Amino acid sequence: MGFGDFQNEIYFQGLQGVVPALPVDFAGLRERAQATMPPSIWSYVAGGAGDERTQRANVSAFDQWGLIPRMFVGATERDLSVDLFGISLPTPLFMAPVGVIGLCAQDGHGDLATARAAARTGVPMVASTLTVDPLEQVAAEFGDTPGFFQLYTPTDRELAASLVQRAQRAGYRGIVVTLDTWITGWRPRDLATGNFPQLRGHCLANYFTDPVFRAGLSRSPEDDPMGAVLRWVQLFGNPLRWEDLDWLRSLTTLPLLVKGICHPDDVRRARDGGVDGIYCSNHGGRQANGGLPALDMLPEVVAAAEGLPVLFDSGVRSGADVVKALALGATAVGVGRPYAYGLALGGADGIVHVLRTLLAETDLIMAVDGYPALGDLGPESLRRVHS
Ligand SMILES: Cc1cc2nc3c(=O)[nH]c(=O)nc-3n(C[C@H](O)[C@H](O)[C@H](O)COP(=O)(O)O)c2cc1C
Repeated sequence: MGFGDFQNEIYFQGLQGVVPALPVDFAGLRERAQATMPPSIWSYVAGGAGDERTQRANVSAFDQWGLIPRMFVGATERDLSVDLFGISLPTPLFMAPVGVIGLCAQDGHGDLATARAAARTGVPMVASTLTVDPLEQVAAEFGDTPGFFQLYTPTDRELAASLVQRAQRAGYRGIVVTLDTWITGWRPRDLATGNFPQLRGHCLANYFTDPVFRAGLSRSPEDDPMGAVLRWVQLFGNPLRWEDLDWLRSLTTLPLLVKGICHPDDVRRARDGGVDGIYCSNHGGRQANGGLPALDMLPEVVAAAEGLPVLFDSGVRSGADVVKALALGATAVGVGRPYAYGLALGGADGIVHVLRTLLAETDLIMAVDGYPALGDLGPESLRRVHS
């Protein structure tokens, strides 16, 4: 069965008068999610930095590229599999780390639901540092699908080491260090409502269960939640410099990726510093407004990576977007908001639905356009659209 067969399932159910319970396109998904999610969580997830110009540009950047169909290929079988750090994955898709994904689920345990969706689809979850449930419990739901742990590096090096060691012990297969969020970007939607979920004690389970974090408290988080939150505020954001990369590298034998890299010089320096993968992203436009779309930087990032795997996210909304990012050189392609909306609407089933729609469209475009394997896609498969 190919991923595209999802459409046959839908059409055959249609013969019985059954239509999909959830939208099969991003616009419909977004609209339904907005109507369902509590307003503060909706704003936190849907919103971005400044007037959200960069966030919109991330999405519209994909419209600047068009795929060129090839004929007489007979692409009856498609191979979407990728190899990442020696791990064979059935698809090039992954779920980007979303702190507060826990809160997007109606039962408040969205991290576990995301991990279950990863287990069911083979699409890896990159689990954020900011989860409702501790990273060990999240990993326990991965099934046979590999998972990755995203580190927000705290200022306390011992705590950073503890988080990484816990992730390694729990079976995570790589560490993704996010570099663009040592300080929170200017987010008018959240500012207007004075809403910052972590300050309200949400999604801090990895800290509150950590022995190093707990040792630094005079009273336990259970006895003094606000004291623990204030300690978290002191420790959260580490304004890392290149001098810190050796130390980060020394923390783990797992593959180390750096997230938020968009400049080719930064790629080269990270590569020289011994990272195993580059994660090209502008945080979905949530951190700094006024930036270029992440997609526009992808080709230069890929060239500078000189064969290191390049993960990409920011603005991916459809299978067509996935194919374009792959053609521009991404090794694997991440989605953020789309799966958060699927989760809000339908729990783990909702995420599985969203991932299946993305994969079905990816697969069918590769079939129709005559690109049977990911290796057949390259920059030559695309042209700039003239508007
Ligand atoms: C609500 C929300 C929370 C996020 N939290 C994190 C996080 O904890 N760590 C991280 O590295 N990136 C985080 N991101 C950024 C995502 O990993 C990813 O870069 C972004 O969502 C991709 O853009 P997209 O939403 O347009 O697909 C978050 C994104 C959203 C929407």
